[in-house]
Amino acid sequence: MRDIVVSGAASGIGRSLAGLLTERGDRVIGVDLRDADVQADLSEPRGRDLAVRAILEATGGSVDGVVACAGVSGQNPLLVRVNHFGATALLEGLRPALVRSDAPRAAVIGSVTGARMVDEPLVRACLDDDETAAVTRAEEVVAERRGGLLYPSSKAALARWARTRAISGEWAGERIPLNVVAPGVVRTPMTRDLFEDERMREIMDEAVPMPLNGHAPPEAVAHLLRWLVGEENSHMAGQVVYVDGGAEATLRGPEVF
Ligand code: NAI
Repeated sequence: MRDIVVSGAASGIGRSLAGLLTERGDRVIGVDLRDADVQADLSEPRGRDLAVRAILEATGGSVDGVVACAGVSGQNPLLVRVNHFGATALLEGLRPALVRSDAPRAAVIGSVTGARMVDEPLVRACLDDDETAAVTRAEEVVAERRGGLLYPSSKAALARWARTRAISGEWAGERIPLNVVAPGVVRTPMTRDLFEDERMREIMDEAVPMPLNGHAPPEAVAHLLRWLVGEENSHMAGQVVYVDGGAEATLRGPEVF
């Protein structure tokens, strides 16, 4: 039985993944604000430390997989705390426990939106691991009425972080495949309000065109995540895999691959 940590396990994609992993016979340690094995707030250093300690206690110090799925949308500067720093701190905090596994695996959730317009100074502050500077920059972006860039920027930073770490001695050198899944629009509680507003839906469909099968159910993303943290995945490193109904190929064209 493999021990797999899933943050954001109480809802949407994380919840679907937790169900699929349990079906396969893995043991899931869910992390979330509520309704989870480990209840912790990943937006704060204290909550992140608490989560890591509780997971190590629950698993005896060895973890076979980590999927950082917890995330928030919107235009609140605090979003970068959860989407970027909450994810990276969880992965870094659990990396020593992954090293103790025979077949360690890790994945994070990006977004197809991160492949387009981002605020580079914000992305840079995230990649410099400077949370205070990142939140300050996010506040400036909101003040400039460009708050829509916060979410894609947080996801772009996370994807770039993962691509850099994935090939490093700490991850590849320790036999840990680390990859990114970048969804298009997925029908979860996160997007529920958008679907209820006809105008928002039009804007969303224009920003994220999905010629293949339209908006995805959470399972479409969860199935890939299950494979990424399974033993079968031995050689994929630093990839951003778009599960987006063709949105990325539509938006960026055939030259980018
Ligand atoms: P969701 O809202 O259904 O689930 C997110 C989960 O994260 C919730 O259970 C929530 O309580 C948890 N969470 C939020 N803040 C937290 C915190 N501070 N500490 C601990 N847990 C926290 O959303 P969904 O759609 O399942 O999203 C999962 C991931 O997929 C997120 O990272 C999201 O950004 C990403 N994503 C979602 C897309 C969509 O269309 N739904 C598209 C692209 C990416």
